[in-house]
Amino acid sequence: MTEKYKKRMIRKAVIPAAGFGTRLLPATKAQPKEMLPIVDRPAIQYVVEESLHAGLQDILIITGKGKHAIEDHFDRNFELEEELRKSGRHSALDEIRTLTTQARIHYVRQPVLLGLGDAVRYARDHVESESFAVLLGDTLLRPAGSCLKKLVEIHQRTGDAVLAVEEVPADKVERYGILEVDGGRDGEYVVKRIIEKPKREEAPSNLAAAGRYILLPEIFDILDALPPGKNNEVQLTDALQVLAQRGKLRAYRFQGKRYDVGNKMDYVLTIMEYALARPDLKGLHEALEAMLRNGVDVMDEDFPAQGES
Ligand code: UTP
Repeated sequence: MTEKYKKRMIRKAVIPAAGFGTRLLPATKAQPKEMLPIVDRPAIQYVVEESLHAGLQDILIITGKGKHAIEDHFDRNFELEEELRKSGRHSALDEIRTLTTQARIHYVRQPVLLGLGDAVRYARDHVESESFAVLLGDTLLRPAGSCLKKLVEIHQRTGDAVLAVEEVPADKVERYGILEVDGGRDGEYVVKRIIEKPKREEAPSNLAAAGRYILLPEIFDILDALPPGKNNEVQLTDALQVLAQRGKLRAYRFQGKRYDVGNKMDYVLTIMEYALARPDLKGLHEALEAMLRNGVDVMDEDFPAQGES
């Protein structure tokens, strides 16, 4: 391995998970949205496993008020392990042991929730002068790991920051950071511009940031110098735009699918898709078909005033 490649090694992953999760209230009032289950695992466990799949074991989770459950989940629980051992439930034991022994998880708190860009600033002391990966704690990717590996490879080859992108339908561009790009060979682009949650008519494309990034250490000075952006928050997108202006930002259109579990509709669909893909839940497909065939009553009196989906 050449010196240049060694210098560009990515060793650390950062998972921002401090946000309020207001779109999933009241479920998120006293528990983190990143801990909501997707079938039988909390969402953030998939994110940690994705990082491990890509070879990144040093993981910093950005937490905040009311997020203790995340730390408890990744801690060892000796009583539970003993119980599983005694009752011969070895596969459950292996799973919880593997996770807590493979990942080296660190925590830092974001004291005031000033946005994703602000959350990333709290990784500075941990990552020091290295480039690092960022995986949003409320976003899952399938297949797990291959996208992140590719982002690492692009960074090692070019030295630039890289973000994963996916094509979204026109009515969803207002939810994400949207890119103007050059190139596109093998799914790789040079980013000319990135803009946070543009109106549909102002979107330069339908390529949307998909919650996975390789960032350069200079991002911290950029974030420190940024004025508050959209919604009065420190926007990571605005810092990425500065990197794009410096000619140091690339994008990769990954093969696979992103699951945004931070809103109700996508949360429910994510559970469905993950459950349908599970070999131990055979029969779910038929059960769902039967449920839809029989029809589901809309019961306004049971579910009044639901707010946004
Ligand atoms: P979102 O943009 O979905 O924001 O965060 P949110 O505040 O969590 O959710 P809503 O809009 O109130 O429903 C994307 C990721 O960034 C983290 C979140 O925890 C989530 O994993 N985040 C966001 C932070 O760590 N800190 C922040 O200040 C904002």
